[in-house]
Amino acid sequence: MNRFLGYRCSLCGTEYGPTEVTYTCPKDGGNLDVVLDFEALRAKFQPSDIASRSDPSLWRYLPLLPVAEFPGSSTPLHAAGGTPVFALRRSGERLGLKHLWLKDESRNPTASFKDRASALVVARAHEVEAKVIVTASTGNAGAALAGMAAAVGQKAVVLAPKTAPPAKVAQLLVFGATVVLVDGTYDDAFDLTLKAAQEFGWYCRNTGYNPFTAEGKKTAAFEIWEWWIEVHREWHEKDSPLDDHSPLTIFVSVGDGNIISGIHKGFKDLLRLGWIPNLPRIIGVQAEGSAAIANAFNANTEKITPVSATTLADSISVDLPRDGVRAVRAARETKGTYITIPDSEILRAIAELGRMGVFAEPAGATAYAGLVKATASGVVGSDGPVLVLNTGSGLKDVKAAMQAVVEAPIIEPTLEAVKKIL
Ligand SMILES: Cc1ncc(COP(=O)(O)O)c(C=O)c1O
Ligand SMILES: [Zn+2]
Repeated sequence: MNRFLGYRCSLCGTEYGPTEVTYTCPKDGGNLDVVLDFEALRAKFQPSDIASRSDPSLWRYLPLLPVAEFPGSSTPLHAAGGTPVFALRRSGERLGLKHLWLKDESRNPTASFKDRASALVVARAHEVEAKVIVTASTGNAGAALAGMAAAVGQKAVVLAPKTAPPAKVAQLLVFGATVVLVDGTYDDAFDLTLKAAQEFGWYCRNTGYNPFTAEGKKTAAFEIWEWWIEVHREWHEKDSPLDDHSPLTIFVSVGDGNIISGIHKGFKDLLRLGWIPNLPRIIGVQAEGSAAIANAFNANTEKITPVSATTLADSISVDLPRDGVRAVRAARETKGTYITIPDSEILRAIAELGRMGVFAEPAGATAYAGLVKATASGVVGSDGPVLVLNTGSGLKDVKAAMQAVVEAPIIEPTLEAVKKIL
């Protein structure tokens, strides 16, 4: 069944066939939404057709994805997605929330949410027989591409700012990608990647540019949907007094705006299939020093004005977000909002999540920092169930992690010295 019909521009609404365009709208540069044949999908599939698939990875949603198959079964490409959800009971109590969970995306094969996008792009590259895939990256998207590409023997090139955390650069190199560190910002690397892709005929994965990235990211929404059904089932069994219809609120950290757009797209797909009655509320969280999308949301406009980004959360440090319009809509169309967070609170969130057993990189902890602010200001009430995403592992940025904690003392190897310290 050919379910991939083509693309629709998110700005002007023009529709394109699957081979007519590759990246963005030729008329206005708008991000392209992948269009699926929902009529055929509705006729052919029920939620139980997904639930009965035994594959725990994101490929369990293959019937709802715009690729016919995925290369590399039994490789790390096959392990993307299927991330766990943990109850954060102590945090919930402290914040006055009855139901608080965290979906830990750091458990992906290369330790960030970006594996979802790269998995789909690598599958698409396989279909269009691309020889080389290139991406600009603050580190995670590149590591995800490099890892997924290595898994199937695909050639990858990554352009990252030279300031990318060393652990991320190490990942790129160890996965065997061709790595180029750009003496400039992520935005400089982004623009250079577009030029290089055109010059050398490479297939470009850039976030918020290649329409398949959001298609990979939407699989997180599908997982949340299945998990949420399970939570409801358990509540019914326990005869929980909680109102069945309390909407879920999801907190997501935002840089280019592609994760939040992808998650929004996933829920919109489910709504079109008639598999959910309404959309969950989606709240985007940006660093104060990199808040172009939050600024647009708060000014009630879709015009994204670039900033000069400065934040220690390198993964969400973006001057001009490339998926800004759809990211504004993700919050607006779900009755969500945007929250901005200073770096000091991001560091505090790293430490707090750590005490729950979750090790997050700064951009990963930003969503949780947003939740802390949202509970203090009443943006979320105590009854509303909340799910926070951790989008990346703390092992990716040890320098930032060390800023979030007090250093361990160094002592003489004697019991006396231990006693003195304790
Ligand atoms: C760990 C982490 N969190 C959040 C984001 C933000 O995603 P997006 O740029 O799609 O908004 C990124 C992007 O690189 C990331 O790596
Ligand atoms: Zn357009």
